[in-house]
Amino acid sequence: MAEQTVLITGANGRTGRQVIRALAAAGVRTRAFIRRAEQQSSLLAEGAAECAVGDLADASSLHAALAGCDAVVHIGPPMHPLEVEFVTNVIDAARANRVGHFIYYSVMHPLRREVRHHRLKLDAEEQLVESGLAFTIVQPCRYMQHLEPIWKTVTEQGVHRMPFSTAQGFSVVDLADLAEAVAIIVTQGSRHHFATYELAGPQVLSQEDMAKTLSETLGRAVRAEAVSMDALRAAASAKGLDNDRVEQMVVMNGHYDRHGFPGNSNVLSWLLGRAPTTYTDYVRRLAMQL
Ligand SMILES: NC(=O)c1ccc[n+]([C@@H]2O[C@H](COP(=O)([O-])OP(=O)(O)OC[C@H]3O[C@@H](n4cnc5c(N)ncnc54)[C@H](OP(=O)(O)O)[C@@H]3O)[C@@H](O)[C@H]2O)c1
Repeated sequence: MAEQTVLITGANGRTGRQVIRALAAAGVRTRAFIRRAEQQSSLLAEGAAECAVGDLADASSLHAALAGCDAVVHIGPPMHPLEVEFVTNVIDAARANRVGHFIYYSVMHPLRREVRHHRLKLDAEEQLVESGLAFTIVQPCRYMQHLEPIWKTVTEQGVHRMPFSTAQGFSVVDLADLAEAVAIIVTQGSRHHFATYELAGPQVLSQEDMAKTLSETLGRAVRAEAVSMDALRAAASAKGLDNDRVEQMVVMNGHYDRHGFPGNSNVLSWLLGRAPTTYTDYVRRLAMQL
């Protein structure tokens, strides 16, 4: 296959970096879209071939960044009120530059309209489907990696604490599997045009199930506990998150508390050509790293 160049937006974030690493491992040349020039060296160290500095709100910077690109993987910032505007700007720039493949990193069940960023991703998907561009939409479930910020509490206090019911089920998925799936979609190109893929992990797990796996894997008792919405609000505000982000976190976790987030891993298995990572394997890997 002729060498292609792929623009990755949200490149400096958790997902963007993992996608760049997966694409580099697959031999794909990536251009990282970053907000500040000083972020460049660490993105090159992740495996990006080059960087373009700009902002998703600045259409001209996107036009310049997409020049000469064959594909774009658009990864918007989480829970952002301008999700649709950002996607529209990337679509316009992709069309102007005749980009052959637009991969949109959405979310599983964008039709869960109660949660604003799901609703906005649904609206953005509609824009993309009607854009005339060859697209692939990936819809990931909640990441297993949400364990990492609470790892210290789990290992030191023996408590797995998240802000929703301990009994609701989630098909948490390994971000490394998701990035590998995106790399497969990019390299296989037209096989995935006009497709929308729900990407969930292999088991539906509640906090209680996760605590049980952690107890078994770490060899110490871990119990599950639901954080109250007031405590969530206070902790998020203390971290300096703006009011809008805090409110969106409260709405999303309230929704999870009532409905969970179960999905199905068949599509991810098919894309990867193997079984997706289990929670036990993910926890073992994390325990080795941290
Ligand atoms: N977490 C999950 O379980 C999950 C599940 C499904 C889908 N997703 C989706 O995954 C996506 C990425 O999440 P993430 O956790 O990787 O996000 P993240 O780590 O917060 O990264 C977001 C990136 O977007 C960049 N950014 C923010 N505003 C920008 C702007 N105006 N112009 C250009 N770049 C901008 C940030 O740049 P700086 O680094 O300069 O701040 C950052 O690098 C989100 O759309 C989320 O909805 C997440």
